Amino acid sequence: MFSTARHLLSTPNRRLHNLNRSLLLPVLFQSRVSVLSSPFPASFKMSTSAMAKRLEGKTIVITGASSGIGRSVAFEFARTAPKNLKLVLTARRIDTLNEVAAKINQEVGDGVKVLPVKLDVSNPNEVRAFVPGLPDEFRDINVLVNNAGLVKGVAKAPEIAEEDINVMFNTNVTGLINMTQAVLPIFKARGTEGGAGDIINIGSIAGREPYAGGSIYCATKAAVRSFSESLRKELIATRIRVMEIDPGQVETEFSVVRFYGDKAKADAVYAGCDPLTPDDIAEVVVFVAGRRENVVVADTLIFPSHQAGAGVLHKKST
Ligand SMILES: NC(=O)c1ccc[n+]([C@@H]2O[C@H](COP(=O)([O-])OP(=O)(O)OC[C@H]3O[C@@H](n4cnc5c(N)ncnc54)[C@H](OP(=O)(O)O)[C@@H]3O)[C@@H](O)[C@H]2O)c1
Repeated sequence: MFSTARHLLSTPNRRLHNLNRSLLLPVLFQSRVSVLSSPFPASFKMSTSAMAKRLEGKTIVITGASSGIGRSVAFEFARTAPKNLKLVLTARRIDTLNEVAAKINQEVGDGVKVLPVKLDVSNPNEVRAFVPGLPDEFRDINVLVNNAGLVKGVAKAPEIAEEDINVMFNTNVTGLINMTQAVLPIFKARGTEGGAGDIINIGSIAGREPYAGGSIYCATKAAVRSFSESLRKELIATRIRVMEIDPGQVETEFSVVRFYGDKAKADAVYAGCDPLTPDDIAEVVVFVAGRRENVVVADTLIFPSHQAGAGVLHKKST
């Protein structure tokens, strides 16, 4: 039921090690102490049940929910608050979203209402029509997870295809900004303190440490970082939380997309590595959304244990 607690309790070494590398260290350290020092992990269970209560009744929009991190985030929210939650899952592949929705309900039951919506975030007209097109019961959005994103190619300037430049900026930057602007009026109208709601932006280590062969992708993720920081400052007088999560290497369809569908090239990226799974990132996304209203986990960097930078990866010899 409380999957985050279950994961933390059942995989003591690798996952705690990975999470300790993030800026969540102080908060998780407390949880870890209670797990290790108490003969009964009841105190820990109580804290996750508080998290479930905070999430209950909320409406959560996830972009890029048809695959990888976004798909895992949908499952993790559903498992954490299975009694009363609304999920709006968006991506371009509607058939895949329908399958994800069915699997979620199969697993957690119908306490979680799931609405799959076909949405290309790189198309401003589709984003503009998104909120007005939602059924009333899904329109009171509490959490927006801006996850849709992609990388194309490894070309270096001046060989970078214009089409790739445009698709990366239109999706990772303009799409994320347009989604945020579409949802913010709902947040700003909520409560008496200038608004309330969560914007969780999925950035990347690439936004902090640019690398050769990734200039455009890195630039888009640096833009996400700047936008997130500006927005947090603009919303300082409200209860709207802007939180960024920057993953290192995660094994998803990401590299298959980067290499235009060449699975062999994508597999080679992960050879000899022990990358993060999308579930590892999903646990952190749900964790930050599940904090008390006055807690903003503003910025989080998450590596697998073999990684210490954008290009600093230890590969085991095979
Ligand atoms: N994997 C990594 O190593 C890694 C590391 C750091 C950050 N990230 C970031 O994590 C996020 C998720 O990536 P992932 O690793 O989970 O890759 P993924 O498995 O390829 O998933 C990407 C998701 O984005 C969606 N998407 C792409 N273009 C879209 C568009 N124009 N409109 C709507 N949805 C779109 C895809 O759905 P459709 O194709 O159905 O539209 C898919 O659901 C991205 O922002 C990525 O930059 C990934």
